Amino acid sequence: MKKNVAIYPGSFDPPTNGHLDLIERGSHVFDELIVAILRNPGKEALFTLGERRKMLKTLTAKWSNVRVDTFDGLLVEYARKQKADAVLRGIRAISDYEYELQMALMNRKLDPKLETVFMMPAETYSYLSSRLVKEIVTLGGSVRGLVPTLVEQQLRERVQANPHALDRPEDTEGMNGEPRTKHGNHRRDGVQEASRALGTASHRKGKS
Ligand SMILES: Nc1ncnc2c1ncn2[C@@H]1O[C@H](COP(=O)(O)OP(=O)(O)O)[C@@H](O)[C@H]1O
Ligand SMILES: [Mg+2]
Repeated sequence: MKKNVAIYPGSFDPPTNGHLDLIERGSHVFDELIVAILRNPGKEALFTLGERRKMLKTLTAKWSNVRVDTFDGLLVEYARKQKADAVLRGIRAISDYEYELQMALMNRKLDPKLETVFMMPAETYSYLSSRLVKEIVTLGGSVRGLVPTLVEQQLRERVQANPHALDRPEDTEGMNGEPRTKHGNHRRDGVQEASRALGTASHRKGKS
């Protein structure tokens, strides 16, 4: 019988426990799961593609049916090349839904045979995003329990080496690389509100 292959695309800058929760769930449902990091030179990321790939490889080593890869261009094209049946995406809150629905339907338009499957993380991770993790670290807070220890260490090193590394963290892209901030009505708004509620240091010039 043909194996079910799914792709879990994202920025993973950095990988969080929410991502790993989803990867674990996906690994139980699909025969093979490809964690695909979006390669986008235009997008400013905190960790290089190589760094993210290495982190994800280490973090997913315990699941034999999970593989890490990178891609650029259209997700549907990449999925076709990988002979994937499905795209896995995470839905944290209602605010994710509108944007994700739009992407899923657009991808269906581009390739009717490719299904998008949504999974929900454990409630503990339903408020967690890479963006907030970056904000917390910038403001000197602890992200223990939100990201794997390995990621926590690398975040700390990055901030120590360059205190401004996290200034204006950009997490504004969709699965196909388009800027999300151009569209007003999506989850980014909620996330940005939330991150502003944590503090404003990362948006200020010359923060202490
Ligand atoms: N805490 C979390 N719990 C569950 N899913 C998550 C979590 N954080 C991110 N995701 C999901 O993982 C996928 C990749 O997210 P992300 O790395 O932010 O890349 P993207 O740039 O595509 O949003 C998305 O489907 C997102 O909804
Ligand atoms: Mg995101």
